[in-house]
Formats: sequence, C-alpha cells, structure tokens
Amino acid sequence: MDANSTTPLLPEVVEAMRPFWMEHFGNASSIHLYGQQAHAAVDRARETMAEFFGCRPAEVVFNSGGTEGDNTAIFGLLRPGDHFATSSIEHSAVLQAAERMALRGVEVTYVAPRPSGLIDPTDIQRALRPATRLISVMLANNETGVLQPVEEIGEIARTAGAFFHMDAVQGAGKIPFDMRRFGCHLCSISAHKMHGPKGVGAMFVRRGTPMEPLLAGGSHERRRRAGTENVPGIVGLAKAAELAMQSLEDGTIPRLAALRDRLEAGILQLPGTGLNGAGKDGTPVPRVANTTNIWFDHLEGEALVIALDLKGVAVSGGSACHSGATEPSHVLMAMGLDTTRARASLRFSLLKTATEADVDYVLQVVPQAVEHLRAISPVAAGTAG
Ligand SMILES: Cc1ncc(COP(=O)(O)O)c(C=O)c1O
Repeated sequence: MDANSTTPLLPEVVEAMRPFWMEHFGNASSIHLYGQQAHAAVDRARETMAEFFGCRPAEVVFNSGGTEGDNTAIFGLLRPGDHFATSSIEHSAVLQAAERMALRGVEVTYVAPRPSGLIDPTDIQRALRPATRLISVMLANNETGVLQPVEEIGEIARTAGAFFHMDAVQGAGKIPFDMRRFGCHLCSISAHKMHGPKGVGAMFVRRGTPMEPLLAGGSHERRRRAGTENVPGIVGLAKAAELAMQSLEDGTIPRLAALRDRLEAGILQLPGTGLNGAGKDGTPVPRVANTTNIWFDHLEGEALVIALDLKGVAVSGGSACHSGATEPSHVLMAMGLDTTRARASLRFSLLKTATEADVDYVLQVVPQAVEHLRAISPVAAGTAG
C-alpha cells in the first residue's frame, strides 16, 4: 500500500536487464563490439521512451531519476534576476532546488493549492512577471494523487513565453503521456515508481530548450548529461515503460481505480475519517488511479502507520521521501489542514499488481487498528500536548 514510495521490479524488467550486467557489459561509448551492443540497447530504450513521452528520440535524456530531473530543470534554466513560479506542494527535489536558487538571486513564487489539492491555473497566471523564465508544476501529487491541470498551465507558459517543467514522477505509467499536448518543455520521470529499477530515470527536453547540463564531463546524451550510461538501468526503465504503456490499454488502470475506490469507501465508513483531495462536497478531484489519502480523527498517524506495519501493511504518513522527519506534510498543510489532522493522515498507494485479497486484508486490519488506537490514544482522551 506504499507504491508511491517505490515499487518492485516486474519479472519482465529483471529479465530484460539481466544480460546487461555480465554478458553485454560494454560501455556504450566504446567502438568495439561490446560497446556497440550496449549502445544499441540504449538506442532501443530511447526509441521506447520517445514513444512513452510522445516525443522524438533525440528529446529523451537518461539520468538517475526524479531528483536529478527536477534539479536539472531548475539549475539548468534559471539565472540570477530570473523569476521562477512553482507550487507549494511540489516534491522536495523542486522545493529545495528553488530555495537554493533563491539564495542565488532568483525570485521564487510558491503558488498554494486550493483546499482540494488542485492548483488553480489562474493563480499561476497571476504569479507571472515579465522576468518569469520557468514554471514548474507536478503532474500528480505524490501524497494525494491529485492530477494538476498541466495542459492549462502549459498554455499559460506558452502565452507568457516561459519554459514549463513538469515533475511527472507520480503520473508516469498512470495516465497517457503526450508532451506536446501537455505543453511542457521539460518533464522528469523515475523508473522505480513504475516497477522499474531505482537510481535511473529520464527527462523529456524539448528540442531547442537551452538547458545547461547539471554535470560536467563527457559528451554523453548529446552533451545534456555527462557520465557513463547505466545500461542495465536504462534497459529496465524502457521495459517498465513498455509494460506501463500496455497497462494503460489493457484495463489495468480501471481495475486499479476500482480497487482503490473500494478500499477508500471501506475506510471512510469509519467514523471520524475523511478524504484529502476532494471538493467541498466530498467528491474526489481528478486523481491517479492508485492513490488515496485519508485523515483519521482522534489518533496519531504515526501510531497507525506502526500498528499497520505490525500487521504487514505498509502505508505512509506524509511523504516517505522525507524519512525521519516528524514535520506534518507540507502538502496537506498547504491544502489548509490543521497540524493534528495533517499528522493523522495516511496515504494508501496501490501497486499495479495489487489484488482484491490485498484490499480485503487492509479493510480487515485498518478498522481494528483504528479502534484500538482510539481506545488508548492521548489525542482521543484530550490529554495530548
Ligand atoms: C513527485 C516526485 N518527484 C520526485 C521524486 C524523486 O524521485 P527519485 O526518487 O527518482 O529521485 C519523487 C519521489 O518520491 C516524487 O514523488
């Protein structure tokens, strides 16, 4: 139930990667046969990723994942004196990079979401200035799953003559991609969120986008990302993307949405619970199929995470990417939840391979854990500090 943190490799992905660890171990830049085999594999992967993004193969840049993509977009395009518009619910890979640029003379505007978790495009429009060079808004939020109106934001960027970066790490493989329709110049994805390997990802970089590379070194990836290519990782990413494209057509996504809806409806039957990522009437706003985020009154979120862990159910309170942090989720706080409710919110995010039996089990253990914790909770008793 924590797929938005990471996912296991699918067997087909392991099989695709296997020859590139030992047999075809060449450096893709070498002229000899070993190098050419590796080079050909990277070329094939690039073709697949171009199909995945809906772009040209030359617009695909392989890298180490979402953090690098987000950083590259921000450090690679912004210069002192520029203005940068982003949202306050971005991943820390965007927010921390923005803070660093602010220290280097870039003005940054953080647009807050509506209580539903949606960024209103008119708020982005209002944030723009003549010096706005870059807009960065995520496709799907990692905590709520809420899908942002990126097409409208892309259109706003186009009209304003600004570049648009989209962190699509949590949207990849969950909704169909088309970079031209989204209107973005840059897009970051990560393999390990879509049943591929960790430490590898890709960026779409629209032709002609003047992005400075983050790393200095060799001329790999058309001089946009130096460093010997992670050939097994790249092959694994492409296989995961190929399987993700199949999943978008074969009924997997509606199946996942139905499982998520059943899980969500079951948990929301408990008194003192509610959905994060819904409009005023409680109707969910557009979300990716695998995610739900629910608040529980009268208990400590962390205690519920631990109680469920003891029952073999892995969930996340706030974002696992900030492991060790006890701060309430910046996303939920930005949506207007109070600290107590933000702390007592849990994210359930289903793997593509989740089953009815998985959901049945979670629906069995969550009510028991909630009831038990409420019975002993200082929050429930009103004695919490
Ligand atoms: C929305 C979003 N962006 C970026 C990242 C970072 O990706 P990576 O783990 O590949 O560095 C994550 C990971 O949780 C994420 O959810």
